[in-house]
Amino acid sequence: MCGIVAYIGKKDAYPIIIKGLKRLEYRGYDSAGVALFNGDLNVYKKKGKVNDLVSFVKGKNLSGNVGIGHTRWATHGEPNDINAHPHTSDDGRLTIIHNGIIENYATLKEALIKEGHTFTSDTDTEVLVHLIGALQDKDNLELEEAVRIALSQVVGAYAIVVLDRNDPTKLVAARKASPLVLGIGQDEFFLASDATPLVGYTSQVVYLNDEEIAVVSNDGTFEIKTIDNEIQTPFIQLLNMNIEKLEKGNYEHFMLKEIYEQPNTIADCMRGRVNAAAGWLKMGGIEEQEERIFNAKRFIMAACGTSWHAALIGEYLFEELARIPVEVEYASELRYRNPIINKDDVVIALSQSGETADTMAALELAKDKGALIYGIVNSVGSSISRITDSGSYIHAGPEIGVASTKAFTGQVTALTLMAIYMGYKRGTIPKSYYHQLLEGLEKIPAKVKEALECDKQVKELAKKFINTNHTLYLGRGYNFPIALEGALKLKEISYIHAEGYPAAEMKHGPIALIDENMPVVVIATNKSAYEKIVSNIQEVKARKGIVIAIVTKGDEEISKIADYTIEIPDTEEPFTPLLSVIPLQLLSYHIALARGCNVDQPRNLAKSVTVE
Ligand code: AGP
Ligand code: GLU
Repeated sequence: MCGIVAYIGKKDAYPIIIKGLKRLEYRGYDSAGVALFNGDLNVYKKKGKVNDLVSFVKGKNLSGNVGIGHTRWATHGEPNDINAHPHTSDDGRLTIIHNGIIENYATLKEALIKEGHTFTSDTDTEVLVHLIGALQDKDNLELEEAVRIALSQVVGAYAIVVLDRNDPTKLVAARKASPLVLGIGQDEFFLASDATPLVGYTSQVVYLNDEEIAVVSNDGTFEIKTIDNEIQTPFIQLLNMNIEKLEKGNYEHFMLKEIYEQPNTIADCMRGRVNAAAGWLKMGGIEEQEERIFNAKRFIMAACGTSWHAALIGEYLFEELARIPVEVEYASELRYRNPIINKDDVVIALSQSGETADTMAALELAKDKGALIYGIVNSVGSSISRITDSGSYIHAGPEIGVASTKAFTGQVTALTLMAIYMGYKRGTIPKSYYHQLLEGLEKIPAKVKEALECDKQVKELAKKFINTNHTLYLGRGYNFPIALEGALKLKEISYIHAEGYPAAEMKHGPIALIDENMPVVVIATNKSAYEKIVSNIQEVKARKGIVIAIVTKGDEEISKIADYTIEIPDTEEPFTPLLSVIPLQLLSYHIALARGCNVDQPRNLAKSVTVE
């Protein structure tokens, strides 16, 4: 996690770095820091948000045309001023910013201490910069050579940028398993964890590959080589991102903006892929690998968090519509057991960021075992999107709020399209149902818009639950993963303990928790098993639980027994998750807001989990 930004060129580095750090703050916000060179090296760092750093540096010397900046998500050492990046080498000559973990830092540190090094922080990062400094001093090496040798001794993940006080005409950067983008301007360069800090400055980017080192100079030249010292020909890509998408506009929070964007983002995900009138649905990613995909014995979906919930919905969709067996795995578990993955399996990774370390590692494992690997990713050009054999972007645009909303519905949309495409082509759904589904799909953006109309009602409802300590979420079938997702949303931004359960599982344990203080959110929009869910609600009411039911518009039965009902529009059953999740996103948002929580940057979390 953590965000890194660096600049070298003719402009003032500080404003560019601070603006970039603010855009990257979703990646970590434990502390922030900058190092700027202007004849002298000035390093400023502060615990807290980027704005705390900005207040701290007021009145200080902020000049310089070269600089590096960092916003941290602590892995080694508590979040405080000292552990904040940048870190410096023993004699203060080198400064570094780092995203990732140096796993063998303890061994390296011990050896360096024996050589006389002293450390001021608890971080693994400081060990790396001392190591580079020691190598540089020992043989009077060029910085890039010292970085290269140091990295060959390192186990772990890194994206780093190093600035040398004795040669501030260049910056040396490198990456392995943590993202790093190089922006190429007119006689200037930008380095950042993702492309957002570059928007407005340049649209020419190079996504560095693992074990590549970039040297960028203030004379406008740059070079990329591997850690094995092989010069690389850079692949320069055009960045397609605009500033409006990176800003909050009229919304109070990114999360709210992203919730409200969903009618458009779902439409964007379907754009060029569905045409109900003409009766076609296209999925380029599948077409590219149609033979292997259609002949797959099994799909394995690997993901984490909210993306894992989307995968669970994928399982229901693929099995029902395409009749292909699916297993859904937590990427972190899949990678560390000895899974049976064969050449005729298709492993689908779902990831908003495309950088989640566990998901990436699970994919690499699947690739080694010969499976076809497919990505359902939001972030264009991200690591996962680059290692997969094929895939589908969800086109939701940058998601900044730490709690995933529009990426989730984008993933579910992409999975829905895939399931219908495969079902139709493989003959597992009848033609008439196929056309009905296409028509239904095209109506989804408008129905999401309609579902958003519950916002006011949900806001009022939220006030009643701000002091609650626990909440249960129940759902069946397609809505079971939505129960998990609703609970995760509430947990992560409001810090209220919440559990999602298949509604029928309640009687096997969680029912013991129900009393007159327990809110139970029931997603009750199912057409199949409707009576069953009504019975589950009765069971909760019989124990005096407080039922908040999400129902299909016009439902009269449930509104008679539930304490509160929220209506969503009717749709084909496989599409209900796209609508039923909307009130739950809003509910968590309003409860968190009413509790005074930081909705976009919840404590202890970061958007992009690039560490294990
Ligand atoms: C979602 O609200 C969470 N912040 C988190 O669970 C997230 O979905 C998970 O870390 C996976 O991220 P990814 O989609 O970028 O791989
Ligand atoms: N491991 C480093 C630290 O704890 C970097 C963490 C990060 O990626 O933010 O400071």
